[in-house]
Amino acid sequence: MDNQKLMVTKPAPHPEKKEDHLCDLQVPFHRAPVGEEEAQAVSEIIRSGWITMGPKTFEFEREFTRYVGAQHAIAVSTGTAALHLSLEAAGIQAGDEVLLPTTTFTATAEAVTYLGALPVLVDIDPVTMNIDVEDALRRVTPKTKAIIPVHLAGQPCDMNEIHALAQAHRLRIIEDAAHALPSEYQGKRVGQISEFTCFSFYATKTLTTGEGGMITTDNPQAAERMRLMRLHGIDRDAWKRYRGDGSWFYEVLEAGFKYNLTDFQSAMGLVQLAKCDAMRQARQAIAQTYSAAFSPLEEIVTPTVRPDRSSSWHLYILRLRLDRLTIDRDSFIRTLQHRGVACSVHFIPLHLQPYYRRAYGCQVGDYPHAEQAYHSCLSLPIFPGMTDREITHVIGTVQETAAEFRHVHASAVHVLPSA
Ligand SMILES: Cc1ncc(COP(=O)(O)O)c(C=O)c1O
Repeated sequence: MDNQKLMVTKPAPHPEKKEDHLCDLQVPFHRAPVGEEEAQAVSEIIRSGWITMGPKTFEFEREFTRYVGAQHAIAVSTGTAALHLSLEAAGIQAGDEVLLPTTTFTATAEAVTYLGALPVLVDIDPVTMNIDVEDALRRVTPKTKAIIPVHLAGQPCDMNEIHALAQAHRLRIIEDAAHALPSEYQGKRVGQISEFTCFSFYATKTLTTGEGGMITTDNPQAAERMRLMRLHGIDRDAWKRYRGDGSWFYEVLEAGFKYNLTDFQSAMGLVQLAKCDAMRQARQAIAQTYSAAFSPLEEIVTPTVRPDRSSSWHLYILRLRLDRLTIDRDSFIRTLQHRGVACSVHFIPLHLQPYYRRAYGCQVGDYPHAEQAYHSCLSLPIFPGMTDREITHVIGTVQETAAEFRHVHASAVHVLPSA
């Protein structure tokens, strides 16, 4: 999938400037904060003789419910599986419409298509880059059955507005919280706010098990349904059947899926969960350092987090003021990469992707805020374990690049007249 996020790509030469050297310090976009503790926990499971879903996964689920403050947690193999199972448990069927932002990873919309339902793309708020609830309202039809708010970069969406919309039009809410562990909205942790919340434990996420995911819900029937459907629709899981005192008998109650999380992944997840607050603090400190350094630059807009919520800081998304620069976003990224700073872009809006254009007739210009954000945004490295030297290098390189390609006419406007 988005391996691009992990790759430190060989920088292409910058078109506007002949570079004399490549920087000796290469800051990767991400380095997973995993080490000896995780290795130890995983190896204990490997030596235990039971490696697929079993007691460690159930322990991980229990600890996760405690951490986010939900009633039920269902561990699954990916965040995409979490979305699929939630939509299925919410009763989404072929022909139904599901609202979701165009600025997201394809998994958000793809999971809707698994059920034969229609992803209805919505524009974003130009400041937070999260779903624009007014635009969502404009796109509601009698077929609309659910909404998937995506907490981009870790900043929660406006959940009060989304709950009001959902109530007025009888929509189910499935939060895509792939980026939002741990994040809070009005003092509540994401995971306890809506009927379904889906987390991802993909390699670059704020808690990782390599691949993995979790759904939290306070709906006991939905929790039961998702537990059944994550393992083939079989009435009891393998751990219970293969235990010494277990019974070999099982019944297939539904045509389910193979979406369970293994015990060795869960063992890693438990270690990561215990470090989750500390890792968030580390990312927040980097975000604050970046914002303090970039706020004075007129070529750059730093991320805005609304005062009633907190971000996990999974991503740090900068916006370039292209009217104040002589280069575009792509050249800006190439320059940073050439100088040893790996970047990414979150996200190429879905309506610009070939599949969504072909399948749903989307066109350039359909979602102006998303397009504007896309052409001006870039994500900088932000991960626990970034060294001071790496942080300083990122800051210095962004400042230097902004200064070098400053639009002279734009900046001249701001030169104070001499007395
Ligand atoms: C917003 C969003 N939703 C869903 C997913 C899917 O998660 P996973 O890769 O665990 O299936 C991702 C993964 O990158 C994501 O960024």
